[in-house]
Amino acid sequence: MTYLEAHLTNRALTFFIENQNSLQNYLEINSIINEVSGLNNFFDTQEEATELLTEIRINQSIVSEPDRREYGDFQTNKTLAFQVAKYVLNKDANIEFLLEPTCGKGNFLIACLSQFKNLKKVVGVEIYKPYVWKTKFEILTYYLANPTFAKPEIYIIHGNAFEFDYSALAKSTRNLKTLVIGNPPWVTNSELGSIDSKNLPVKSNFKKHNGLDAMTGKGNFDIGEFISYTMLKCFEKHDGIFSFLIKNSVVKNIIHDQKINQFRLGHIEKLNIDSKKEFNVSVNACLFLSKLNSEPELICKEYDFYTHEMLTTFGWYKDKFVYSVQDYDESSIVDGKSTFVWRSGVKHDCSKVMELDQVNGHFINALGVEVNLENNLVYGLLKSSDLKGDKTNSFRKLTIITQNKIGQETSYIKTQFPKTYKYLDSHREFFNTRKSSIYKDKPSFSIFGIGKYSFSNYKIAISGLYKSTHFTLVSPKDSKPIMLDDTCYFIGFDDLKMAEIAHYLVNSELVQKFLKSIIFSDSKRSINKDTLMRIDFQKAFESVDFEKAKRKLKELKIEDWEAFAEMVKEDVTEQMTLF
Ligand SMILES: C[S@@+](CC[C@H](N)C(=O)[O-])C[C@H]1O[C@@H](n2cnc3c(N)ncnc32)[C@H](O)[C@@H]1O
Repeated sequence: MTYLEAHLTNRALTFFIENQNSLQNYLEINSIINEVSGLNNFFDTQEEATELLTEIRINQSIVSEPDRREYGDFQTNKTLAFQVAKYVLNKDANIEFLLEPTCGKGNFLIACLSQFKNLKKVVGVEIYKPYVWKTKFEILTYYLANPTFAKPEIYIIHGNAFEFDYSALAKSTRNLKTLVIGNPPWVTNSELGSIDSKNLPVKSNFKKHNGLDAMTGKGNFDIGEFISYTMLKCFEKHDGIFSFLIKNSVVKNIIHDQKINQFRLGHIEKLNIDSKKEFNVSVNACLFLSKLNSEPELICKEYDFYTHEMLTTFGWYKDKFVYSVQDYDESSIVDGKSTFVWRSGVKHDCSKVMELDQVNGHFINALGVEVNLENNLVYGLLKSSDLKGDKTNSFRKLTIITQNKIGQETSYIKTQFPKTYKYLDSHREFFNTRKSSIYKDKPSFSIFGIGKYSFSNYKIAISGLYKSTHFTLVSPKDSKPIMLDDTCYFIGFDDLKMAEIAHYLVNSELVQKFLKSIIFSDSKRSINKDTLMRIDFQKAFESVDFEKAKRKLKELKIEDWEAFAEMVKEDVTEQMTLF
């Protein structure tokens, strides 16, 4: 390919292909080029960089790549591979044996060959033949260009990481200081199942889940996780370093399972990378790095890869798996069992019919049709996105509540609320096509997440969809309680004063610190019933005194404070019966 009448060597072309996203900002690509070559101001203008980007895209569209989804194929760009190798080098420069179990196009191998000067043996394994060749050519080119550099014994093997005999390799390299480096495939066994791929380990239940867990999804694992475990099993007793680019979820699992596995990992680090920038994918991923052959550790220090800013230390602490050891240490006093039972909101799986807007006093359903209903069964409804403020008694949507408790007969609607019945009956097909088996053999128009608790006037609510740990106090509108949908969690009170105190406590510094210490910021649906049930209201209450609370709750009276004290002293099971 030529650019501005100059011929681009293959090496330069590959470099630009891998950094093509950065060509959109000529200052960014200039800084990358400066880092790898020392050249300053490579492009003088954005136009120059854009012209090259256009040439590359035209060139690339001629060669179509095969579908490599099943191989979790996200090649590490040279810059990142170089930075990772450099980071490892600073930890230990005396690496003698280098292994990359899924080496792809060989960027990590080249990055290491160029920086580690004591290498004696190098092994790369890759399943995709064209990449094996690419790696071999890269290495050849590297030594042709640098003929005086010391050359280790190098093996680039066309093989399957699930079948390769790593334990034999581990035995033969036992006395060499080892670096296991790489970026194993980013794909899960269930994704592979859905595309009917055979790129799976034979023993897929390597985490020894029982039949039920394996069935319910705990058996789902990342292929990168499997390869990480294989490496750790084989090389944990080698002196050296383990360094993989993997998904954050895999690191969390490795640290969580350290309690049982006790791999000989020490000085464990997680360095968050920007996967959008590096791989153009939206997956939370990081560099996982650890010293091998160390006393097994159960905690991991988390940093930003680019700035090295320390973010947290997570892992096992005081026999709990926490996101922030420091915050947990300062707030673990409220880690207990909630006096109040946290509930999730109403579930109906029939929003087209059951959810309404109110326009000029008229109900409009989600099909856009005006409907004529009695007011009685219509309640205001809040969803996760509505729970942003501190307090609310207003709503955007309304919903029809057909039952007071789960399984209640709904035939009463016909006699007591004929207009509502007529509406529901005429939309029966929407209810009948609900997929979830929970509605099977249940009364017509059944809903879930409903009970006496749903009708409490005051609710302390939180979204289960977002990361915010702030709780909203929901009060009735026109004397009618407001409902929450099934993406929210709440506790209910009939007395405003009690609700205000509970609201004050869950938003207190101590409880907020506790929640943040146990919630992993990038895991999905981390605010859930299990998490909330750990808030010990009695301990939270005891940690503040009346005067302090009164500074926030101006109208607070001592008798209310004492009534709350009595309430949180009660046994959880008694409270449960209240609802
Ligand atoms: C995420 S890419 C990373 C490649 C390379 N390590 C890098 O950092 O650029 C994963 C690589 O694993 C390879 N791969 C996938 N399944 C494999 C298997 N069963 N055995 C060996 N390599 C495999 C893919 O072809 C791909 O090159």
